[in-house]
Amino acid sequence: MNYLQMIFSFIWNNLTAFFGAVAAACFLACLVLLAAELLSYHSKKKQGGAVGDSGAGSQQGGAAGDSGILGQQEAAIDNPCGAKRQENVALDAGHRGRRMRIALVTGASSGMGREFARCIDRTEAEMDEIWLVARRRERLEEAASQLTHPARIIPMDLTKAENIEELENLLKPVRVGIFVNCAGYAKIGNYEKVSRFDSDHMIDLNCKAAVNMTLAVLPYMQAGDRILELCSTSSFQPVPHLNIYAAGKAFLYSYTRALRMELLPRGIVVTAVCPWWVADTEFLPIAKDNAANPDFEKSIRGFLLPSKKETVVRRALRASRMGFAVSTPGIMCFLHRLFSKLIPRTGMIYLWEIMRRLG
Ligand SMILES: NC(=O)c1ccc[n+]([C@@H]2O[C@H](COP(=O)([O-])OP(=O)(O)OC[C@H]3O[C@@H](n4cnc5c(N)ncnc54)[C@H](OP(=O)(O)O)[C@@H]3O)[C@@H](O)[C@H]2O)c1
Repeated sequence: MNYLQMIFSFIWNNLTAFFGAVAAACFLACLVLLAAELLSYHSKKKQGGAVGDSGAGSQQGGAAGDSGILGQQEAAIDNPCGAKRQENVALDAGHRGRRMRIALVTGASSGMGREFARCIDRTEAEMDEIWLVARRRERLEEAASQLTHPARIIPMDLTKAENIEELENLLKPVRVGIFVNCAGYAKIGNYEKVSRFDSDHMIDLNCKAAVNMTLAVLPYMQAGDRILELCSTSSFQPVPHLNIYAAGKAFLYSYTRALRMELLPRGIVVTAVCPWWVADTEFLPIAKDNAANPDFEKSIRGFLLPSKKETVVRRALRASRMGFAVSTPGIMCFLHRLFSKLIPRTGMIYLWEIMRRLG
């Protein structure tokens, strides 16, 4: 027995020492790499700022006109939703000699997108204009009227590839300083209760449109510019009864993390924003509103400890300014991220099963 104990304690001690050393080494390596990444971003940001302000920094051509600062009425564009085209917006009167720098926010007609526009308006003084994209024109007009920056509304459906091409044409004369990809939606229900249309449409908006929009803005970004992709904590694990949505967000999360590495040499900061439930937006009412699943409570009984959009957005923008790869803007999303790293996937799925049944 004593021998057995000795052998067991020998193996145990060596295993814990080995894995402890590996974990400590990995942790230190991560810290060093993170510090190097942040330093690289911040040095590139300084270069980018200097180049951008000198007037020589534009990577793309694009004739610049002297149209003066555009108000939101003049700024209407010609797109499949029927607004008028207004070109020559490259240089505004106050910033001649350099490319106009814009913040572009999708999903800006409500919820977090609208809040991002508001927060950028207050905190990002270097932006010359804020461009707002979503389908509902009146809601965009209302959001634009509350901003102090000149705002441009672009009412369009992002699931239509031709609309994104149209939007890309409008970007030619400008520099996209901040791109926030917020447009997205979910439907609650299992494989039987979410229609084929919604399954398809979620993939179209949450995955395809997100990638297409990102690729559309990238040619007009420079060192120091920032991208925020609205993912979700559901990207950290498979989520029954929110399956397609969570799988789509996992795609977007993975895409965002890899894109960040690819853009490191260009000094463009890419941040995956991963909120937990956010109650004060239209997201949950839309997710619950599913004709094929009127008893959504049988799928998900409750939405525990939701965050507030204002807090999520403020923290996400701060994380992006600091050059972070991931923003978990709240205690619940931080814990979800942590547990999903510590607990095997099967365990996380069963934990969710318990949570969604108990509420
Ligand atoms: N709320 C949450 O619990 C939560 C949690 C984690 C992650 N998220 C993610 O955060 C993002 C923002 O969500 P939210 O809570 O702010 O929801 P929201 O209030 O419903 O906002 C969604 C936005 O997307 C726009 N949109 C929907 N379909 C579109 C389309 N086909 N083309 C263009 N725009 C479209 C909507 O505007 P129109 O209807 O006018 O087009 C709206 O402005 C989403 O990507 C969501 O997946 C939300």
